[in-house]
Amino acid sequence: MMDFNYSNPTKIFFGKNKLKVLPEQIKRYGSKVLLVYGGGSIKRNGIYDNIVKLLKDNSIDFWELSGVEPNPRITTVRKGIDICRKNNIELVLAVGGGSTIDCSKVVAAGFYYEKDPWNIVKAPYRIKKVLPVASVLTIAATGSEMDTFAVITNMDTNEKLGTGHPDMAPVFSILDPTYTFTVPKNQTAAGTADIMSHTFEDYFSKPDSAFLQNKISEAILKTCINYGKKALDKPDDYEARANLMWASSLAIDGLASYGKDANWCVHPMEHELSAFYDITHGVGLAILTPVWMKYILDESTVDKFVEYGINVWEIDASKDKYDIANMAIDKTREFFNLLGIPSKLTEVGIGEDRLEIMAQGAVRYGKIGGIRKLDKDDVLNIYKAAL
Ligand code: NZQ
Ligand code: ZN
Repeated sequence: MMDFNYSNPTKIFFGKNKLKVLPEQIKRYGSKVLLVYGGGSIKRNGIYDNIVKLLKDNSIDFWELSGVEPNPRITTVRKGIDICRKNNIELVLAVGGGSTIDCSKVVAAGFYYEKDPWNIVKAPYRIKKVLPVASVLTIAATGSEMDTFAVITNMDTNEKLGTGHPDMAPVFSILDPTYTFTVPKNQTAAGTADIMSHTFEDYFSKPDSAFLQNKISEAILKTCINYGKKALDKPDDYEARANLMWASSLAIDGLASYGKDANWCVHPMEHELSAFYDITHGVGLAILTPVWMKYILDESTVDKFVEYGINVWEIDASKDKYDIANMAIDKTREFFNLLGIPSKLTEVGIGEDRLEIMAQGAVRYGKIGGIRKLDKDDVLNIYKAAL
């Protein structure tokens, strides 16, 4: 039965040259900003210079936290909190992808938390107050630009954990698709796979009475299938980049999951891979997804795969239901391969040795999965089948 509360507090400014709203939007919250970014892509493509000029021209003081890692580390979060405290920062501005935005969110929450911020990653209920966070998005993938979550890695303990709080949603996000023209092919592919995986997590959850949510999911999946390869082949294809960018935000902001028991499954399995092997999130998801789909395909789930096959892949509805389901799964894998993503864990350097401990980690909070619940042995079987 559908029963939910809906709220989406993030203001979105979408389109070419939307950066111009940045100063006025920042000034709603103050004039002392922590500018957070990654390994330097924003310096190479000019976004950094444009932002710095806007901040200086509008008398907005800023301090910098640079070098946020893909799979952002708690050590970087700690550095950001120190800068915020020393300089009475009023807004944390993330310029980058999910890693930069996630790091910024936990810096903003950690600012008000007097102990070590790893505690608020492990136990989100400890978050009571959060500095305003805003983002300028540079890659279509995680949806962190319009959601309340953050994922942080602790390399000392090989843990990559999600946290969240309603006030961690960015107060505004600027989405200029031209900023994603410089995203390299492998990250474009991984981002597309990530958007699709967020959608699968909701789509393959119960109940099916959430008809509208299912249709939204199918539309997001078709958008990724239609535009993923186009963005790869022609990086400055505005239409492709824009559709992927908006799909990124809508895939995880709740639109497709409200009213469903969306107990995510492939994500906890993938986060273990990233925690131990530091691989790209979307690549891990794309390898695991078709294997997971085959694993859970049985009499209790086949109808959902038929729905997926017919509505998303336009497979002939008159075929046998298991043929449709298997064709849909094969097409999913073929699509990821078309984007240049490999099919096996061994191809990204993951062997047998740590599968057991990762399987344990994936179910640390209990069984996972919306349409079929998986325990540790199931996860281990999926990892082994993905080698
Ligand atoms: O660090 P820089 O130099 O900026 O380069 C980045 C990085 O190397 C590069 N890049 C980004 N925009 C670019 C660009 N290169 C050229 N031109 C541009 N315009 O791309 C690389 C990857 O960036 P990253 O931010 O790591 O990618 P993504 O957005 O995929 O974020 C991945 C992280 O988000 C987490 C993942 O687990 C992972 O840690 N997730 C966050 C979620 C959330 N907050 O809701 C949900 C997701 O499921 C996910 O778990
Ligand atoms: Zn994801």
